[in-house]
Amino acid sequence: MELPARVKLVEVGPRDGLQNEPQIVPTRVKVGLIERLGDAGLSAIEVGAFVSPQWVPQMADSGEVLRAVLASPRRRPGVSFPVLTPNLRGFDAAVEAGAREVAIFAAASESFSQKNINCSVNESLKRFAAVVDSASALEIPVRGYVSCVIACPYEGRIAPQKVAAVAQRLFEMGCHEISLGDTIGVGTPVRVQQMIEACAAVVPLDRLAGHYHDTFGMAIANVYASLEVGMAVFDSSIGGLGGCPYALGASGNVATEDVLFLLQGLGIDSGMDMTALLIASDYIAQHLGRQPAAKAARALLAKPGSDE
Ligand code: HMG
Ligand code: MG
Repeated sequence: MELPARVKLVEVGPRDGLQNEPQIVPTRVKVGLIERLGDAGLSAIEVGAFVSPQWVPQMADSGEVLRAVLASPRRRPGVSFPVLTPNLRGFDAAVEAGAREVAIFAAASESFSQKNINCSVNESLKRFAAVVDSASALEIPVRGYVSCVIACPYEGRIAPQKVAAVAQRLFEMGCHEISLGDTIGVGTPVRVQQMIEACAAVVPLDRLAGHYHDTFGMAIANVYASLEVGMAVFDSSIGGLGGCPYALGASGNVATEDVLFLLQGLGIDSGMDMTALLIASDYIAQHLGRQPAAKAARALLAKPGSDE
C-alpha cells in the first residue's frame, strides 16, 4: 500500500508525558509548553486529564491549564485541546473549564481496566456512553482510547479480536477517532499491523490512530509499520516524555521530534516545523533538568563542542 501523503500528529506530552513525572510540573510551565507546541504547528494537543487527583496528582491542575491555554494571546486558530474524562464528573468539570474536545479511555484487558479506572471494561463502557451522550448534546467531539492493544502488564498478550471488539464499541458509541494504545510498548511491526487490520475490519481505517509507547525502542518502527498499512494519525509526545502510572516500567510515547524526522524523510506532510518543535523540546527538557529521550532532538540540539 502507498504511504499516506499527509499525517496528523496528536501531541500527548502535556498529558501522557507529564502524568508520569515524579515531580509536579508547575501550571505555568505546562502552559508555556503547550504554547510552544502550538507554535510548532500541532493541531491537536492533549492538555490534561479530569481524573481523580488522588489517582493522578500530576493532572490536578488540568482545569487551570485548560483555562490558561484557551485565554492565551499565543493561542493559534484551529488548534484543539482535548482532555481525558473518565466519567460524567470529569466531563462536567472539563466543560466548565472550557473543553471543546474530550477523550474517554477504555482497555482491551480486564485487569488493566480495574487497575487504571477501578472498574470492568463493560462498566467503563457504560460510564463512557453517558459521557458521549452528554458530549453529543453539546456538540463536543469525543475521542476513544483502547489501552493494552498488544499486551497487558498483568495479563500478557492480548488478541487483536479483543482490541477490535472494544474499538468497535467505542466507535458505535459515537467516538470520532479511536486511538490504539500499546501501553507497555511491547509491540513489534507485524503484530501491530495485524492488530490494526483486525480493528480496520470493524472501524474505518481513517478513524484509527496509533499510540505507541517506546519501552523496547520499537515505537518508531511501529509508526512506520502502521503507515505501511495506511494509518495516518499518530499520538506522540514531545521529548518522548511519559508512561502510565498503572503500567509500571512502561516508558514514554514515541517522541514527536522522531516522528517528524521520519515523516520529513518520507516526504509526508504534517504541517509541522522542526525548528519550532525543538524550542518546545528544549523548553521542557530545561525545566525537567534532563535531555529529551527523543533521538532527533538530541542530535539536532547537540551543540558543537558538547560531549553529546
Ligand atoms: P474510583 O475511586 O473508582 O471512583 O475512581 P469513585 O467514583 O468511587 O470516586 C473516588 C473519589 O474520586 C471520590 O472522591 C470522587 O469524588 C473522586 P472522595 O469522595 O474520595 O474525596 N472522583 C473524581 N475527582 C476528580 N475528577 C473525577 C473524579 N471521579 C471521581 N473525574 C476514577 C475512578 C476513574 C475516578 C479513578 O480510577 C481515576 O481517576 N483514574 C484515572 C487513571 C488515569 O488517569 N490513568 C492514566 C490515564 S490512561 C493512560 O495513560 C493510557 C493512555 O495513554 C493510552 C495508552 O497508553 O494505552 C490513554
Ligand atoms: Mg499512553
